[in-house]
Amino acid sequence: AFEVKIASTGQVFAVPADTPITKVLDDNGVFVPVSCEEGVCGTCLTRVLEGTPDHRDLYLTDSEHAANDQFTPCCSRSKTPMLVLDI
Ligand code: FES
Repeated sequence: AFEVKIASTGQVFAVPADTPITKVLDDNGVFVPVSCEEGVCGTCLTRVLEGTPDHRDLYLTDSEHAANDQFTPCCSRSKTPMLVLDI
């Protein structure tokens, strides 16, 4: 498990194993648009300000993955205890 922090509000939410980040956000009233929810379409693409995403998508390129400044929260996870999201 890891936490996500909403940069604009300072809210921090725990993300349980097997629960999509977008579901945790939605359950807490933070809306991120989704479509495929499988890492294919890029609809949910979100900027990452701190922390390192564990990319699980097929949308970003290898170099975009390596930059670690954006990710797809519908399917991706975190390699660090916290991700700070630019939302
Ligand atoms: Fe399609 Fe996240 S909703 S990549």
